[in-house]
Amino acid sequence: MITISTHSPATAHPLLRPHLQALAQEVEALVSDVYWNRTHEPGRMAAAHLGSSAWVLAHERDRIVGTARAISDGAKCAWVYDVVVAEHLRGEGVGTRLMSALLAHDTMTGVRWVHLSTRDADPFYARLGFGLSEEVCRVPWRRVAMSLDRGRVPFAAWDDPGRSPLAS
Ligand SMILES: CC(C)(COP(=O)(O)OP(=O)(O)OC[C@H]1O[C@@H](n2cnc3c(N)ncnc32)[C@H](O)[C@@H]1OP(=O)(O)O)[C@@H](O)C(=O)NCCC(=O)NCCS
Repeated sequence: MITISTHSPATAHPLLRPHLQALAQEVEALVSDVYWNRTHEPGRMAAAHLGSSAWVLAHERDRIVGTARAISDGAKCAWVYDVVVAEHLRGEGVGTRLMSALLAHDTMTGVRWVHLSTRDADPFYARLGFGLSEEVCRVPWRRVAMSLDRGRVPFAAWDDPGRSPLAS
């Protein structure tokens, strides 16, 4: 059985840091072997995950078998990075579950634009509502930018006068 866990590393309580650091170290093996991360030195990918606003993981028993993360400003835009599912589980819906959980994360639900770029997984993201925004470059590989326009999503800060930045 695959379970999904949701985390907010950038704003996590200090007591949660050791647990998140252990998860980030484990996930480093999964994300360091993909084509876009091969030039990073050890430790950088774990640190990148610990600096992310939103992070979701897929677990199979006590192993991490999938991961996706995002950096979000909570209002205008967010960027999705490092979406990876373990090879033996690809094509079984784990990536879709991870992306759905990431888009439902507290820091992502009020965001207007969600951006990402990919070499060849555009059909996967298109099924989730992302549209092609531009071809970014061809060197060293084809890369396209994609965006999800969530329209005029309700923005909690404006709906709740107590949280509104305009409240005196
Ligand atoms: C891309 C990835 C995260 C998708 O995860 P997954 O668990 O395999 O995805 P799902 O099972 O939810 O797949 C849903 C659909 O997307 C399609 N899909 C997945 N990866 C695809 C790809 N690279 N290109 C085209 N279609 C893809 C699947 O074929 C499936 O469609 P189908 O049901 O019509 O066959 C996973 O394949 C992966 O880790 N790939 C290697 C790393 C990578 O390229 N990550 C994305 C970087 S931007």
